[in-house]
Amino acid sequence: MPIRYQGGKQRFAKAIYEVMTDYEYRNTGKNKLNLYSPFFGMGAVELEFSRRDNDEKCVRTITANDINEDVILMWESLQDGWLPKKTCSETYYKKLKTSDPSAERGFYLSAYAFGGVFGSSFRGKYQTPEQNKREGLNAYNKVKEVVPYLDCFKFRNGSYIKRMPKKGEMVYADPPYYSSLDYGVNKYLTDFDYDEFWDTMRKWSKTNLVFISEEKGKHIPKDFISIWELSTTRTVGSLKGGKGKKKESLFIHKRYVKKGSKRRESPDKEKISECKEYLEDMGYNVKKTRRSKNDL
Ligand SMILES: C[S@@+](CC[C@H](N)C(=O)[O-])C[C@H]1O[C@@H](n2cnc3c(N)ncnc32)[C@H](O)[C@@H]1O
Repeated sequence: MPIRYQGGKQRFAKAIYEVMTDYEYRNTGKNKLNLYSPFFGMGAVELEFSRRDNDEKCVRTITANDINEDVILMWESLQDGWLPKKTCSETYYKKLKTSDPSAERGFYLSAYAFGGVFGSSFRGKYQTPEQNKREGLNAYNKVKEVVPYLDCFKFRNGSYIKRMPKKGEMVYADPPYYSSLDYGVNKYLTDFDYDEFWDTMRKWSKTNLVFISEEKGKHIPKDFISIWELSTTRTVGSLKGGKGKKKESLFIHKRYVKKGSKRRESPDKEKISECKEYLEDMGYNVKKTRRSKNDL
């Protein structure tokens, strides 16, 4: 499981994997499309794919892109055998904030950042030294644990606009949350053009199976359908306040929601319930898990 990151999907990765592979099977009759991730971050869902499907050999090549150069440098370095240190002082954190792009920045400015918001204030300021040390070690262990699953990844740095998915790639797009726009500290979250994003997803959906993670709301264009959602109540705050009801959802273009298409057995209910348990452990109050009425 990857480190804490703003908008990271570690809590939902198992359930999203199940829903995506179910749709993949219904649309292609197989489960072996390569995966393209235009907004990789800490890659919770993509790492779930690698762990589950790429155990013995690369059944799926995973192309992982992010506009954040530091984050991509971190992943490339981990792939080459680099590991971060197990602790980070506030002085070092502050020094990194003004340093050139590097793997260190990618790791420490995420793992030690308040709220997991890249480059925000040093989390240790609000913690006891023991707590900070424990969480730092935890983050170190998490990245170490995923290294064996990086073999089938290719990393790219740039805007998602610059690379179309290749023919036959399935897309998992997890852009900055619409509701995260006021996290002013992170430029990658504030400069995002949502109209351009949905137009691009519509274009890609003509040739590729594209899944989009977003919270449900009026900002979602009508031709994108929610195929999975999980209602949660945040009992822990975020930088923004963040408490309250949310609907974490997965969208797909309506052209892929076909009646009578091939389907495999229902998605693994056990895995979805594991995801619920995990959410509860994280301090969420899980109301219900259901498929939307638009689902087959
Ligand atoms: C919600 S986060 C992805 C979280 C990820 N799924 C995880 O589990 O950690 C969104 C990511 O999109 C990246 N991003 C923002 N604007 C981008 C753009 N124009 N092109 C590519 N990546 C972008 C951010 O740097 C951030 O890593």
